[in-house]
This record gives sequence, C-alpha cells and structure tokens, in this order.
Amino acid sequence: MFVGFSTYFEVIIVTNQSEFTEAIKRAKLEKSDAIVGFVATMGALHEGHMSLIEVAKNQCDIVVCSIFVNPAQFNNPEDLATYPRDVEVDQKLLIENNCDILLLPSVEAVYPDGIQPYSIDLDGLDEGMEGTFRPGHFKGVCMVVERFLRMVTPDKAYFGLKDYQQLAIIRKMVAIRNLPTEVVGVAIKRAENGLALSSRNALLSPEKLEKAAHIHKTLLSGLEFSKSNKDAVAIKKHIEAGFEDTEMEIEYVAIVHNDTLAPVEVVDSNATVCIVVFSGKVRLLDNMQFSSVLDIEN
Ligand code: PAJ
Repeated sequence: MFVGFSTYFEVIIVTNQSEFTEAIKRAKLEKSDAIVGFVATMGALHEGHMSLIEVAKNQCDIVVCSIFVNPAQFNNPEDLATYPRDVEVDQKLLIENNCDILLLPSVEAVYPDGIQPYSIDLDGLDEGMEGTFRPGHFKGVCMVVERFLRMVTPDKAYFGLKDYQQLAIIRKMVAIRNLPTEVVGVAIKRAENGLALSSRNALLSPEKLEKAAHIHKTLLSGLEFSKSNKDAVAIKKHIEAGFEDTEMEIEYVAIVHNDTLAPVEVVDSNATVCIVVFSGKVRLLDNMQFSSVLDIEN
C-alpha cells in the first residue's frame, strides 16, 4: 500500500492521527487558511459517495475522505461480515475524483482501547425507524463520526440525505459536543431507474437490482397520492400496497417531521417519508421529502 506524500494525481493515504497531522500540515503549506472538507464512508464507493466528494471539492480547498467499516455500528455480525469491501477500486475512484487525503485506519487505530460504551442523549432522534430495527446503531455511528471529526477537525463535513435519520443525528451530535465543523447535507444520488445508490446494491443480482427501482416509483406514487390525501396513515397504506406482489418485503415505512423525526399524522411540506425494504437478505433504505410535491402545489 502506498503511504506517503503524493504527486498531484495521487491521493495521500494515512492510517492514523500522526500520519494525518503530518499530511494536512504539508497540504496546507501553500495555503495555511485552506478550507478542509471531510467525507466519511465505509467504502465500496459509488457515485453517491462521489457526489459528496464533488460538493466538498466545490466548497473546500482540501478534501479528506475516510474509509472505515465501523464494527461499532453493526448490530448484525452477518451484515458486518458481508459488507462489500474493495479498497483498490475505491482508491482509484478517489484519485479520479481528486480527493486529496484518504484516511484508512485499522480498527485498532480507531478504537485503541476496544469499543467502549458511548453515551450521548440524542433527544429521541435515535429512537424510531433505524433506531428501532438496529438497536445501538446510531451510538456506533456517533462514536466513529465524533472520533473522525476530532481527528480531522474539518471546516465542513458532508453527509448524504440518503441516510436521513443519520444526518439529523450527526447534526445533533456535532451541536451537543460543540464541534467546530459545519455539517452539510447532500441530495440523494440515484441510478437512472431511480434506485438510490448504495454500497449494498452490489449484493443484488442484476434482476433484483432492476426490480429494486420499484422503491423509488412507490415513494413517488405516495407523494403524488399526498396531493389529494394528507392523512399519513392513508399515505403509508398506499405505499405499503405498492409492495404487494413484489419480491420485496417492507421493514418499515415512516412519515416523520423533517427535523424532529417524530411521526406526523397529517402531511405537509415539512414531512419526509422514510422506508426500508428487504430484497432477499439485502436491506435497502430510501426516503423522499414531501416538499418536493407540496411546495409546488402551494
Ligand atoms: P456509507 O454508507 O459508506 O455512506 C457514506 C456517506 O455517503 C453517508 O453520508 C451517506 O449518506 C452517503 N451516501 C450513500 N449513498 C448515497 C447516495 N446515493 N446519495 C447521496 N449520498 C449517499 O453512512 C455511512 O457510510 C456510515 O454510517 C458513516 C457515516 C461513514 C459512519 O461510519
């Protein structure tokens, strides 16, 4: 593995705090007040991740990306074991997309004392949706993101709206911990057929991949339905009915307030529908904001 300082077409790879400190010092030699952007990932990079890097590139002078499959956020050992990994391909994509520094730490470098209990009061944001079905997941996400933000101390950190609840929770954690980083949300990048890009899509057969586009179509249909019926229960039923006779199984459909993530009874432009479906063993997550149809209507 290349560890060291790059020519302009390379990406500098660092594996721990001291290497990172040295790399960022060198990167800032030409411009000491350079704006640093950070994109945290678990690898198996795709165009969705690249859209975060692109936004970061446009807003910052130096872009740091991390690849770390965080064991603390997996509540299912099989999910952790089968999580797709391909660092060589990832590295190539990062070079093509002009990422400056790649943080590629080992589990021991991130958790030198092992995974210790982590305490944070997220004001209920972590209780519904993913919090219900993946207990402990968001504590693990907050723990690792906090560690990376303290290590990188970026001016801006970029997270996808694809993981809607995660984004809200990271904003909250950053505020609670008083970290000096601005959290920026980036729109969901979709395949041509509408399927939200995800590392887990790599685990689907070509046929299942095509069929998974149904998730997006059904959400769109739910939003369309909301133009004539704002009752959240009715909209949920409409979306659930859309999955009858498909090979996909719904884990949950939730219609929540954009900021508090509390379930809403009546939908308006401050609501978001979040969904998780299984295609076989593969868990697929998506969401859509009602503002995209209801704002136009008003
Ligand atoms: P990962 O699933 O690799 O995603 C990394 C970032 O890419 C997240 O902010 C996610 O929301 C964003 N992302 C993924 N697919 C996207 C898409 N189709 N469009 C836009 N953004 C997309 O999320 C995680 O990793 C981890 O929980 C992490 C934050 C790195 C902590 O371990």
